[in-house]
Amino acid sequence: MNSKAWPLPFWIAHRGAGKLAPENTLAAFRLGAQYGYRAFECDVKLSSDGLPFLLHDATLERTSNGQGVAGALSWSELSRLDAGGWHSRSFAGEPLPSLIAVARFVIGNRYALNIEIKPTPGQELLTGQVVGREVLRLWQGSGLAPLFSSFDPLALQGALESAPAIPRGLLLDSLREGWLAEAQALACRAVITNYRLMDAATIAKIHAAGMQALVYTVNDAATAQTLIGDGVDGIITDAVDRFSPV
Ligand code: G3P
Ligand code: MG
Repeated sequence: MNSKAWPLPFWIAHRGAGKLAPENTLAAFRLGAQYGYRAFECDVKLSSDGLPFLLHDATLERTSNGQGVAGALSWSELSRLDAGGWHSRSFAGEPLPSLIAVARFVIGNRYALNIEIKPTPGQELLTGQVVGREVLRLWQGSGLAPLFSSFDPLALQGALESAPAIPRGLLLDSLREGWLAEAQALACRAVITNYRLMDAATIAKIHAAGMQALVYTVNDAATAQTLIGDGVDGIITDAVDRFSPV
């Protein structure tokens, strides 16, 4: 596993392919790849029996035909849900992917992956620990490594404990007091902010601390141009049909 090199290219497709396909499904990854994307962000949490799988929300209603807290169901129950029909009829029957399935797809194609650890509330440390262990196992011998990210410092702490060599990024939706020290304490390689928080001065601060500065979720060309001019190191986007990654 090559975990020393920075693992991501500049353009990263959000939740697989943003909004053109059902988010966080392999169909979305495939669509993003058709638009030339070679790096994908996805949200990962645990089933009740401890298997990492992709889902953004804590609950199932918005992006599947399931109900209730996703982390309360076993993988056997989750794997029978339809995670595509809510988006459009052509994606009906698309399953929720396990991290195992996603690893097969991205490693097989030599794609980069940003795993956002998005724990079910109350499972922050455990989710980071388990996802860290699973990534070590799944990416072993591939010569690749994903980037972990999370809004939750405890989740990153868990990943640091179980997989210290896999790079981490702290996600921020505000520049709260002590944010840079927090990223440093977790030995992060990156800080990833809401694009509205990022400017040249913040990028300079992050670079001076030896970290990469990334932003989510940029879907507007003028905003992307400004951030590129400011020196940002990566952009997470839904607009895979409008921003060419090459
Ligand atoms: O990882 C960046 C971005 O995905 C964070 O926000 O809510 O889309 O997971 P969210
Ligand atoms: Mg995310």
